[in-house]
Amino acid sequence: MRYPTNDLEHFFMPFTANKAFKANPRLMVASKGVECTTHEGRTILDMSSGLFCAPAGHSRPEIADAVSEMLRECAYVAPFQHGQPAAFELARRLKAIMPGELNYTFFTNSGSESVDTALKIALQYHRAKGQGQRIRFVGRERAYHGVNFGGMSVQGMVKNKEAFGPGLVGVLHMRHTWSEDELFVRGQPEKNGVELANDLQRFCDLHGADTIGACIVEPVAGSTGVLCPPKGYLNRLREICDANGILLIFDEVITGFGRIGGKFAGDVFGVTPDIMTMAKALTNAAIPMGAVAVTDHVYKTIMDATPGVEMFHGYTYSAHPAACAAAIAALDIYENEGLFAKAAELSDYFLDAIFSLKDLPVVTDIRGIGLLAGVDLAAKDGTPGARGGQAVQDLWEEGVMVKMTGDTACIAPPFISEKSHIDRMAEGLRNVFGKY
Ligand SMILES: Cc1ncc(COP(=O)(O)O)c(C=O)c1O
Repeated sequence: MRYPTNDLEHFFMPFTANKAFKANPRLMVASKGVECTTHEGRTILDMSSGLFCAPAGHSRPEIADAVSEMLRECAYVAPFQHGQPAAFELARRLKAIMPGELNYTFFTNSGSESVDTALKIALQYHRAKGQGQRIRFVGRERAYHGVNFGGMSVQGMVKNKEAFGPGLVGVLHMRHTWSEDELFVRGQPEKNGVELANDLQRFCDLHGADTIGACIVEPVAGSTGVLCPPKGYLNRLREICDANGILLIFDEVITGFGRIGGKFAGDVFGVTPDIMTMAKALTNAAIPMGAVAVTDHVYKTIMDATPGVEMFHGYTYSAHPAACAAAIAALDIYENEGLFAKAAELSDYFLDAIFSLKDLPVVTDIRGIGLLAGVDLAAKDGTPGARGGQAVQDLWEEGVMVKMTGDTACIAPPFISEKSHIDRMAEGLRNVFGKY
């Protein structure tokens, strides 16, 4: 073992029950492909691709080599007023695969930074157009947009705000798109798409369209439990944004890079945003990195209006050379192994396996698209989250990992998974959820 596993006190762990974890730790000391090895030497089948971020499987040597070479050759370049060719190459590579006119990319270090960057780009865009009064943002209930102050403010998961207050003022939330009327739907629900999107129109009518800068949504709400947009929903949001001069931001931190059966959600649903955030899967989780793509129009509006430094925003580690090298190597793997197509091909088999859990008494709803699915479990003794907490431990013992959000299992297998892995996943979920 490279590092001790018996003194865990001093790490203040994120989104974790620290005290319970330290009393009964779940440590991984190695990861390869679709499997991880625990500190006790057991194997865990990773059916959440880490946190939706390692679709090509863990610890890919091609990425390790690219990172290692870059760290020896040019470990760091100050990204303000200087650059490293790898960043420009990565931006070109992304331009080639992103939908619509999304042709310019700003680099960050995480999804949260990408969201806050996207919101700031939206504000600057409107100022560049002489519309600095457009400072309201529209988000959605049950959305997740990371944990920084902008993202926390526009997101709509209650627990993520509870201890920190409301965040930015002037944020409005549309209704979420989950409905009790349509349970166990595979793909997009049929009902209420236009009606729910019209919440944005109501905000325009109530607050004045010219006070709203941007509407941000996850095309498929991921962390909250995989909520597919009802038919017509995203198109209607696009229409309202266009009619009212509002920027549409798609947070594709989970949906990007093949997760839902096409390269990006924009391709799958035929609606492209003005700004798109990315992070997970960009480097196949080898190095932290995020990105924000903007259309030609957004980029040129800001460039043309501003002399000198066009945007007073950036991170010490924006476009870090090692992260760029990791991302280029990851994109090579996705392309060379045809992994986005492989994910799309595996989708039916995966969704069949997930929807086969429908008969379990504890399962109250299932949703899914591509290689992404959410399984709701009934709350235990009326205490939301207790069942999910128990499931994390029980799945650990069963040797299968998925992400639990509250009482919902979020499942996102690596694209390199074989049918036998999907079978084992279904068996493991059935063994655990069947006991409840
Ligand atoms: C849609 C979405 N946006 C933003 C984030 C935040 O990303 P990060 O955890 O890399 O900051 C996440 C993370 O799950 C996400 O799902």
